Amino acid sequence: MRGAMISIRNLKKTYPNGFTVMENFNLEIEPGSFTVLVGPSGCGKTTLIRLISGLERCTEGSIWIAGKDVTRCEPGDRGVAVVFQNYALYPHMTVEKNISFGLRNFGYKKDEIKKILAEVLDLVGLTEHAKKKPSGLSGGQRQRVALARAISKSPDVFLMDEPLSNLDAPLRAQMRDELARLHRKLGATFVYITHDQAEAMSLGDHIAVMDDGRIMQYGTPEEIYDTPANVFTARFIGDPGMNILPRKDGIYLGFRGQKVGVGRPGGLDCIFIEGTVSSREHLGDAYRYRVTASDGSQFEMRRPERVDVGRRLDMFVRKSDIYAFDESGVRVADVKTLGAAAP
Ligand SMILES: Nc1ncnc2c1ncn2[C@@H]1O[C@H](COP(=O)(O)OP(=O)(O)OP(=O)(O)O)[C@@H](O)[C@H]1O
Ligand SMILES: [Mg+2]
Repeated sequence: MRGAMISIRNLKKTYPNGFTVMENFNLEIEPGSFTVLVGPSGCGKTTLIRLISGLERCTEGSIWIAGKDVTRCEPGDRGVAVVFQNYALYPHMTVEKNISFGLRNFGYKKDEIKKILAEVLDLVGLTEHAKKKPSGLSGGQRQRVALARAISKSPDVFLMDEPLSNLDAPLRAQMRDELARLHRKLGATFVYITHDQAEAMSLGDHIAVMDDGRIMQYGTPEEIYDTPANVFTARFIGDPGMNILPRKDGIYLGFRGQKVGVGRPGGLDCIFIEGTVSSREHLGDAYRYRVTASDGSQFEMRRPERVDVGRRLDMFVRKSDIYAFDESGVRVADVKTLGAAAP
């Protein structure tokens, strides 16, 4: 496995206008992982990728790639390649030229370039289109040229900032598969930004959840979904995110809408909620309900059966499906040990 570990230590980034995006920022990205960065708009995802690539300078702290301190290295000396949302192709150059351009500057010889070109064009399925200009290609093909250009530098690290967001849904799905395949084949470390939850969960073997210049959690998709470390991650991950209801003692209880049952079962260790259905949305294979509990709090419920809006319901959630968070939003031990009363 040739993927490099990326280690970010005590990083601080202040832009020239005085705005500090992140401070005391630490993250170790697993070598060879496909790490997806998610978080609300403006939380610092693009800034982080630009810092790793060297397009942006660190204010404080250091960045290490494959055990080497690259904080002061030029972008070209870091072993990274970046792919952005808009492919940044040269319109007057053919596909071939767009890819080989950087290699020539890099000092590769003619026959070496020819060999690399043939390889990467084949890898992204563009061999037949080598002589075309970008204007003669579809959006997906253009994005593949950008990918091919990145691959041609055989980097240890691929940094991708929403590379598929300009493509329509079927093409995105296809490109997603191709990226997964590329990752398996190249074995490099991929860091990938997306706004798309489904994409993050399906593509990433690791997910980094960011908020306001901080890493809220870094782990596998399963860890992030099943054992969220805090309220932010619980709410952010999943479609919809986890319901979070405050309890009188300052504890927050969290549960997923899929885990809400209807009725009053006996013999189950659960909490009971009374409420009224305030809205319904058909999802195809199920319904998503907005429910107002008798204490006025609101939550989402997902059920296979249709229920009328305005109907009063007895609901329950098994204690084993309930998460507890303290006042600062950090997840605390199992809810059973808290003697969970209804919210
Ligand atoms: N060159 C700059 N100068 C000053 N502030 C900047 C600069 N670039 C970004 N910012 C600010 O830094 C913060 C993080 O921006 P960044 O682009 O990293 O966010 P992001 O997570 O990529 O958001 P999005 O999901 O919308 O792309 C934002 O508040 C943004 O306004
Ligand atoms: Mg961004």
